[in-house]
Amino acid sequence: MERQQRGVTVWFTGLSGAGKTTISKAVAQALQARGYKVEILDGDIVRENLTKDLGFSKQDRDENIRRIGFVSQLLTRNGVIVITSAISPYREIREEVRSRIGDFVEVYVNAPLETCEQRDVKGLYKKARAGEIKQFTGIDDPYEPPLNPEVECSTNAESIAQSMEKVIFKLEEMGYVK
Ligand code: PPS
Ligand code: MG
Repeated sequence: MERQQRGVTVWFTGLSGAGKTTISKAVAQALQARGYKVEILDGDIVRENLTKDLGFSKQDRDENIRRIGFVSQLLTRNGVIVITSAISPYREIREEVRSRIGDFVEVYVNAPLETCEQRDVKGLYKKARAGEIKQFTGIDDPYEPPLNPEVECSTNAESIAQSMEKVIFKLEEMGYVK
């Protein structure tokens, strides 16, 4: 039997519009091209399926993260490289998920709020400023940056390819990827 690949959860966190989805897709593509089994759990997609019942209160966000963490744990222990991209604004629940999964690499996708707001890819910041969306992360809801992430991508200062390479390099360094 072929030797199993080592599972790991690569947990992207950051503000809306920071680049989580974009970098996570690039990382997934690069790994798939090298023959690894990869699954992406993206907040926007998970919320249409697994966590459709949840909103954006602290309680609901934490529940969203707990469920994403649970699925990640199952996949990770079966040798999959799991890539999650949810804002996951609260440090405590991220740490809880980290300790449950064990094989966990946190990637802080860091862009200043002003940059994210200027990009406003989905027009959500405009709506949040206009009061049409309440509890919007960075506007009237908190974001707690990681204190000690394995990787930090500053998406206002580096390219998508550079950010992707940083993540892959860390996975190689930690022995999850050859
Ligand atoms: S969380 O906090 O981790 O549970 O959020 P997540 O599951 O990643 O969902 C974030 C996406 O939902 C959209 N959206 C909002 N984001 C933040 N705050 C509020 N109030 C909100 N309402 C809708 C938005 O498209 C987020 O996607 P990203 O990819 O982060 O821009
Ligand atoms: Mg996204």
